[in-house]
Amino acid sequence: MLKQVYPKCDVSRPLEGAYLALNLHQQAAEGDVLVYANYIASLDGRIALFDEVLGEYTVPKSIANGRDWRLYQELAGQADVMLTSARYFRQLAEDKAQDLLPVGSGEKYADIKAWREKQGLKAQPDVMVLSHSLDIPLKALAKVQDRQVIVLTSSQDEAKVDALKQAGVQVLQTNDVTGQFVRQALIDLNYRSAYLIAGPQVHSTLMADSCVDELFLTTHFTLLGGTKVSGLVDANLPQAQSMRLLSAYLDADQQQIFQRFAYVK
Ligand SMILES: NC(=O)c1ccc[n+]([C@@H]2O[C@H](COP(=O)([O-])OP(=O)(O)OC[C@H]3O[C@@H](n4cnc5c(N)ncnc54)[C@H](OP(=O)(O)O)[C@@H]3O)[C@@H](O)[C@H]2O)c1
Repeated sequence: MLKQVYPKCDVSRPLEGAYLALNLHQQAAEGDVLVYANYIASLDGRIALFDEVLGEYTVPKSIANGRDWRLYQELAGQADVMLTSARYFRQLAEDKAQDLLPVGSGEKYADIKAWREKQGLKAQPDVMVLSHSLDIPLKALAKVQDRQVIVLTSSQDEAKVDALKQAGVQVLQTNDVTGQFVRQALIDLNYRSAYLIAGPQVHSTLMADSCVDELFLTTHFTLLGGTKVSGLVDANLPQAQSMRLLSAYLDADQQQIFQRFAYVK
């Protein structure tokens, strides 16, 4: 059970449904989109540590857990489109990333799949990828063939653009992929809810232009330490970003707290 600690106190509820009930796909104003991000972080604010064996940043097993994953899936369930990074796609191609957009994979999550269907949403959210390099392996694209993939890029490498287009990807080019460019692309494509699952670079790109609306943050009560670490932002911002707490649930089973914030604009 979860214990709500804000805005109400001492209300207990099951984990399942805690986020699915939010109807995030219906919250944007007419002609707009709701962009929401989700992270799990340690008590000392790390979302990833550098893994010397793999040679890249990964989410440590000591904080990743099934109860947080359930809520990750509930958030995916409400998304028209997932916003991710090319780096994630490269990890996916090497089977180093958790499967992209897992809505409904397995019995445990069948209720989310059924919920999506009932809401008239596509079986899986589409995928929007940010990339400077356009180094996006076709092997990873094969894993998301059942949905529209859109790549936003500052690359002018027409050979790479053509290869992606031939693989069925929609490519939007610009000089600089800013938060505003991403948000406008989402609106132009008629998306109403976009789930940001990328790391600190994509997050800071959107935050710099005040283009993220909500943050779902799981804080796991673990101190990870480390010196090669990644946080939620890891970039200079034009100014400090104030956040307003919307809700918080204590998950005593896993010693973590599920928080939902609004970005104050
Ligand atoms: N704990 C958590 O909840 C959580 C959540 C998400 C991610 N993570 C971890 O964080 C680490 C980094 O994740 P990530 O790879 O998704 O990170 P990221 O830092 O958001 O994305 C990096 C890549 O995205 C592309 N990119 C970012 N901003 C761009 C812009 N404005 N214009 C064009 N391209 C842009 C670039 O791709 P190109 O190199 O192709 O140019 C860049 O290399 C991973 O270890 C991941 O596991 C943890």
